[in-house]
Order: sequence, then C-alpha cells, then structure tokens
Amino acid sequence: MPKPIRYDHKNMLREAVGLHGASKNELTREATRLETAKHGLLEDFRKKKQGWLGCPDETKMAEKTIKLAERKSKLFDTCLVLGIGGSDLGARAAHQALAHTAKHGMKLVFAGGNTDPDELETVLAGLDWSKTLINIISKSGETIEPMSAFLVARERLVKTVGRKDAARHIVATTDAKEGSLRKLAEKEGYDVLPIPKNIGGRFSVLTPVGLFPLACAGIDIKKILSGADSVKNDFVKNKATKDPACLFALFHVLGDTERRQNIHVLMPYSSRLQEFGRWFRQIWAESLGKKYNSDGDVVHVGPTPIAALGATDQHSQIQLYMEGPNNKLVTFIEVTRFDSRLKVPHNAKTIGDLKFLAGLEFGRIIRAELKGTADALTANKRPNGRIVVADISPKTIGALFMFFEIATGIAGRLYSINAYDQPGVEEGKVATRSYLTA
Ligand code: PA5
Repeated sequence: MPKPIRYDHKNMLREAVGLHGASKNELTREATRLETAKHGLLEDFRKKKQGWLGCPDETKMAEKTIKLAERKSKLFDTCLVLGIGGSDLGARAAHQALAHTAKHGMKLVFAGGNTDPDELETVLAGLDWSKTLINIISKSGETIEPMSAFLVARERLVKTVGRKDAARHIVATTDAKEGSLRKLAEKEGYDVLPIPKNIGGRFSVLTPVGLFPLACAGIDIKKILSGADSVKNDFVKNKATKDPACLFALFHVLGDTERRQNIHVLMPYSSRLQEFGRWFRQIWAESLGKKYNSDGDVVHVGPTPIAALGATDQHSQIQLYMEGPNNKLVTFIEVTRFDSRLKVPHNAKTIGDLKFLAGLEFGRIIRAELKGTADALTANKRPNGRIVVADISPKTIGALFMFFEIATGIAGRLYSINAYDQPGVEEGKVATRSYLTA
C-alpha cells in the first residue's frame, strides 16, 4: 500500500544549505534522545495519560458518531458548528479540504470562534432554525466564546421551534461528566458526544470534536481515521530516526535551539489546505510555547509558527524568507494530483512573453512554483522541507493530522516541556472573567 504522505527533508541538511542545516553528526548525536522521546510518548499512551494516538482504533466511537450524524441528517439540512481553538480549527480545516468529497451531507456553518457581534449576527441571521442542527463543542463547557454564541443560537431556536422540540436540534460535544454544558445537556435532554478526558482540545480533531461535524457534512470519517492509522502504525514500528514525524520534530527543535531558527512556516501549495495551516499554527504554538520545563525551571521556549499559502504568499512572504533574517524553517505541502485538470488556453501562444503558459495545466504550474521556490530558498541557504501528498482526500488529511500531532508530541518531549497544557491561555481567561464580573 502506498503511504498517504511522504516527508522529503534533504533541504534541511547541511549538504544542501551549509551551516544553516542539520549535520549528520548532529543527527547521530541526537538519535538516542529522539528514541527516548518516542518511547516516552508511547508510554504516555500505554499508561492512558494521553489518548490521542489511539483515536484511529476507536471504531465504536466512529460508528456512534456516524449513526448520530446520519440520524440528524434526515432531519436537518444545516449544521451550525460552535467551538473555538481545538474545538473548532480541526473540523474547519478538514471541512475546507474535503467538502468536495462529501456525499449527501448537511451544509456546515461555523461560528463561536470569536465574540465579534457583527460576525455572529450575520451568521445567525442566515439560518432557518426549523432545518438547523446546532453542534456546540466545548470540552470544558465553560468557554466564553462558543458558549455565549450557543446561548444566543439556543434562544433563537427555541423562539422558532418551541422549547419541547429544541432539544433534538442540539448535539453537545463535551466532557463525559463535568462542566456547565454537560449539566445543561443533561437537564434539557440533548444528544451528547463525550470527549475523552485524556485528549486535549488541539489533539482532538480525530474524536467526535472534529468527526461529528465532518460526518454531518457527509465526509467519510472512517477514511480519515484510516489515513491517521497508517501514520500512527509507521510511527509505532519505525525507529525514531527513520520516522518522518519524529524527524520533522527533531529538525525543528534543533533548528530553534542550535541555530535560532525559531520561526516555523507551513506553506501548503493548495487553497484547500489554507485552514490546515491555521490548525497547525495552533497545535505548534499552544503546545510548544511554555514558560516552565518539566523540572519546573523557567525556560520560555517555543517556536513561532506561521501559516502561509502557496503560491499566493510568494507575492507576500517569500521575499522575507529569501533575504530577511535566516531564522526560519519552511515546510511546503505538495499535492501531486489536483482534481481539476484546468489548463491555460492555447491562445496564450499569441501573448508575448507568456506564450510558455499555453496549454499548461494549473496543477503543473503550482507544483513548478513550489519547486522553484524550494530551489531558490536552498540556493540562498534557507532550510526547507517538503511533505508530499498524492491528493487531497480523507485518507491524506487524516494522515496529515496524525503526522503533526505526533511531531508536536515529540517536539514537546525534545523541548522537555508539557505539550498538553496551556496555563498562559487560562491566565487570560481568568483575567477576562474578572472584567466581565466586576
Ligand atoms: O487546545 C486547547 O486545549 C484549546 O485550544 C481549547 O480547545 C480551547 O480553549 C477551547 O476549549 P473548550 O473545548 O474547553 O471550549
């Protein structure tokens, strides 16, 4: 079976980019540390401290999610998805990437990711409540942005369909036992999809958090899980130094700690993967930006992720990456096969210097742009890597999610920090509450 994704890291090496790249000696020196990180991560999984690596094996959960989505799809034509951060970005990313593969699904509308009243009002005003399902997603069940949006949506729903009927329009994805949303769901009789305790928000896309809205949209979530499974199995079987996700983590942590390359750019050459870049930006930033290491020492570590888009950002960001400070590691995502075979018309032959475009497929043009940019970065001694996917399908998207979850977990161990908490976010939440309750 061909692998759903491949990681080409040759331009991350010293042979390609001189002293700005990783040396063979460095990689040999780090082999034991990388293997230890891998074993630590697997140990966390075996001891059930972390559950995200096991998501592809949760077939019962997937079946339950699909059944509920199918039942609701018979009743409603739109699903309003309310969540923020890890309870939002994964479903958004997968939906943008995979909407073209959906069969007989509901229309998804996302909100709750901001408290901007103008945005929320516009989204809600466009809904026909009698045909709308609300999926409120909040692990804690206490988060201001999605919960305040939910309260507005619920009130409008009740006004239209009545209190008695409203409950069947609502599915709550939340903690199995705790939180205000859980209590409300029990009191009002919503269907509830539980989020396992040992899976944190930004690692939860392969739980009902991401899978339920995607199933509602008619996307094949079993194929997403099978793509994730393939990357997970490779990770479990491979030696860490041969595993693509482990290597990605190692190159990035070494780049940051040894060469001050602390800006990590993900640049898919596909508009369907733009939201995926935002998902990556969150998991990398919130997991790795930490004040304390695992021994409790103040360290203030963490790279700054950037979500760029090829080819668009060649006309926005690449000048900086090429000639500005050499403090970035760029990773391209290359799509080998696009659905559309769109071509530039042959009449381009008559248009001066653009005649070389005549008859060219756009898929070929965008890949040439990626390769040209990678070559130029390499010539300028700027390290860059490339993740190659055959196409944009449920399988490759599942694989990409698992690849970056593993890379993040490994990077957290290499930085010696806890990749799974977010005390800095909590601090801001507490301060906000104090303004709102004063
Ligand atoms: O990754 C995380 O843990 C966060 O981004 C959370 O997902 C986010 O704060 C939303 O939290 P909750 O699902 O509890 O509403």
